[in-house]
Amino acid sequence: MVGEKEIQARIAELGDQITADYAGRPPLLIGVLKGAFVFMADLARAIRLPVEIDFMAVSSYGASTRSSGVVRIVKDLDIDLAGRHVILVEDIVDSGLTLTYLRRNLAARHPASLAVCALFVRQGNQKTQEELRYVGFEIPPAFVLGYGLDVAERFRNLPYVCEFTGELSG
Ligand code: IMP
Ligand code: MG
Repeated sequence: MVGEKEIQARIAELGDQITADYAGRPPLLIGVLKGAFVFMADLARAIRLPVEIDFMAVSSYGASTRSSGVVRIVKDLDIDLAGRHVILVEDIVDSGLTLTYLRRNLAARHPASLAVCALFVRQGNQKTQEELRYVGFEIPPAFVLGYGLDVAERFRNLPYVCEFTGELSG
């Protein structure tokens, strides 16, 4: 669905954009594990600013493919967000429910600013109107895997993204 070169070219653009937007106020990148770990690694290296990195682990899907809207924080941040310019880095926004929860949770920690960078947004599925400052690709309503995205924990290491056409549990 989205090839390796296409992904890398888009991340270079996002990196340039973030570098320009955050000049003089280096951002703290917060990756949402596990899916965002690949994107986070490439995005961080495409930003030419002294960025800091932290991760949060949330669990929303289990082995199922539909968002319940119930998000559980499995690993919290190490870094204090007060006064920081935070960019929340997401692999894919589907219903947007995970994002809505996380944004509210992070905003309560008093960052100086809070923006969202999502590599993929699935068209037409959002149940909430969340502002997405940086978006890599809008993709059609198919379940996808690769480049950090899993199906039952597999395929995260593929350098490209493709549609999953197998049987889904749940
Ligand atoms: P949302 O809460 O419905 O927006 O779901 C967001 C989370 O669900 C993402 O961070 C992913 O971990 C997971 N997810 C959503 N769509 C896909 C997909 O097509 N493949 C793999 N994981 C997905
Ligand atoms: Mg997942």
